Amino acid sequence: MRIGVLGAGNMADALAAQWARKGHEIMIGARAPERAVALAARIGRGTAGGGLREAAEFGEVVLLAVWFEGIADALRAAGAADGALAGRVLVDCTNPMEPPFERLKTGDGPSAALRVAAAAPGARVVKAFNLCHESVWRMTPPAFGGRPLGVPVCGDDAEAVAAVRALVADLGCVPLDGGGLRRAGLLEATAAFMVGLWVAGEDPATMIPPREYAGGDPRRTSAAAV
Ligand SMILES: NC(=O)c1ccc[n+]([C@@H]2O[C@H](COP(=O)([O-])OP(=O)(O)OC[C@H]3O[C@@H](n4cnc5c(N)ncnc54)[C@H](OP(=O)(O)O)[C@@H]3O)[C@@H](O)[C@H]2O)c1
Repeated sequence: MRIGVLGAGNMADALAAQWARKGHEIMIGARAPERAVALAARIGRGTAGGGLREAAEFGEVVLLAVWFEGIADALRAAGAADGALAGRVLVDCTNPMEPPFERLKTGDGPSAALRVAAAAPGARVVKAFNLCHESVWRMTPPAFGGRPLGVPVCGDDAEAVAAVRALVADLGCVPLDGGGLRRAGLLEATAAFMVGLWVAGEDPATMIPPREYAGGDPRRTSAAAV
């Protein structure tokens, strides 16, 4: 698959390196193209570097890996308003959050993912990879206690979601059906809540019971209560 990457920071590095290892063709784009070229050289395996628009036009799938505040600028420079991303799968891994993780930067407005979709007409936006730290995405594979990491994927276009699910599987992770893009805001809030717990020294993994305890079967829950 041809993958364009908008941004040359930690998330770009972690995910592009994994996908390059899996044989995908990668082009990194950054507002300072020399940073993209340097990252591409570090990743190797034929990875190219250049400007944001070049990366947008290169990718069948395009990963948006910039800070929330940079989304509008980055998409503008990528040519989104001129349709450069139309028809492409646009993967949004951004998190509109900041310490002390009490509210999202999106406030009461649309999620970051819906803002991305509004700024990139015709792009098939999928939210994924926002829940875990970049160090997790560098693991081969990201697995804990023998259990591969589940990665929720939210999107409205079935083909785009399938492409991102395949990229999740390429990392050695298990794609989880997160529903449509309207649910991406829940994923963004989940990230902020989880990171808030980590920062407070808590382990959020302990708050999620196995699926068989998810409720829905009153006999099972009442039996468990006896
Ligand atoms: N780091 C994590 O563990 C992690 C995990 C999950 C999700 N995320 C999310 O992933 C996104 C990227 O995070 P990161 O850790 O990769 O950040 P990072 O290492 O700081 O890199 C950010 C990238 O965004 C670019 N950028 C910033 N403002 C821009 C603008 N106005 N126009 C164009 N490019 C701009 C930067 O370009 P310059 O180099 O030119 O400044 C840089 O390439 C963020 O939304 C973050 O919330 C991060």
